[in-house]
Amino acid sequence: MNYHILMAAATSIRARTGVETHDAAVVLGSGLGSYASTLKDSIEIPYSDIAGFPITNVVGHSGSLFSAPVGDRRVLMFAGRVHAYEGWEMDEVVFGVRAAVACGARRVLLTNAAGGVAEEFSAGDLVIISDHLNLTGRNPLVGANDDRLGPRFPDMTNVYSPRLRTALANTFREVGITPHEGVYAWFLGPTYETPAEVQMAKRMGADLVGMSTAPEAIAIRHMGAEVVGISLVTNLAAGISPVPLSHEEVTETAAIARSTFTSVIDRYLPTLVGDSDD
Ligand code: HPA
Repeated sequence: MNYHILMAAATSIRARTGVETHDAAVVLGSGLGSYASTLKDSIEIPYSDIAGFPITNVVGHSGSLFSAPVGDRRVLMFAGRVHAYEGWEMDEVVFGVRAAVACGARRVLLTNAAGGVAEEFSAGDLVIISDHLNLTGRNPLVGANDDRLGPRFPDMTNVYSPRLRTALANTFREVGITPHEGVYAWFLGPTYETPAEVQMAKRMGADLVGMSTAPEAIAIRHMGAEVVGISLVTNLAAGISPVPLSHEEVTETAAIARSTFTSVIDRYLPTLVGDSDD
């Protein structure tokens, strides 16, 4: 990771927003990016205006960073992320969340669309990520460690903050939905998994399968900020679903789940920015 490019990105975010410190960040997953347009008094910065930022163009992913007030604090929200399957290097995949932490974000909410593996999940469910399985053989921390960012061998015991997960489960109950939790298995993609791969992941302990989130979670923990994650089950995973998967199914389910997702995020943002902290 080029530390100076990362600091230049943080400087451009500070300059464009006029905000010295952002308290938290949110990454909006596939089909969920439109939440950013509901933010009041937000400042939109196209990724192309941020020094060093990788630019996206996959269907269903837009490419802007939003800065918005939440109470007397600030959140950064990424509408669209870059994925390893697009050919980006790991440093590029995690560039945005690293820049957010460099801007001061102490907590990051990662959201994604995922395939449901656990029996109890249905399409449209929101699931709190309890842990992940990295099945890609890739890791954003491979290479020389930059001690200014974090330690060489970061602990991964509680990647997804127990405290933030408990608060998120309470938010789910407040909006009237069941607070399911599950382990997310990161596959590289861009193919969806084979039914045999889904069965493998299930036996390894996966409840969800997807193509993002884990590398960002690793990079955020490396920098010492807290992570919390939500998967939207857009489909039952291959072989569990009786029908073949399609990207259209993923974006259609995301559209149907949007209002519940919006209620959850609306209610959770004050916790995420630390409004209730001392
Ligand atoms: N597998 C991987 N990624 C996904 C899926 C899936 O079934 N659904 C949405 N993203």
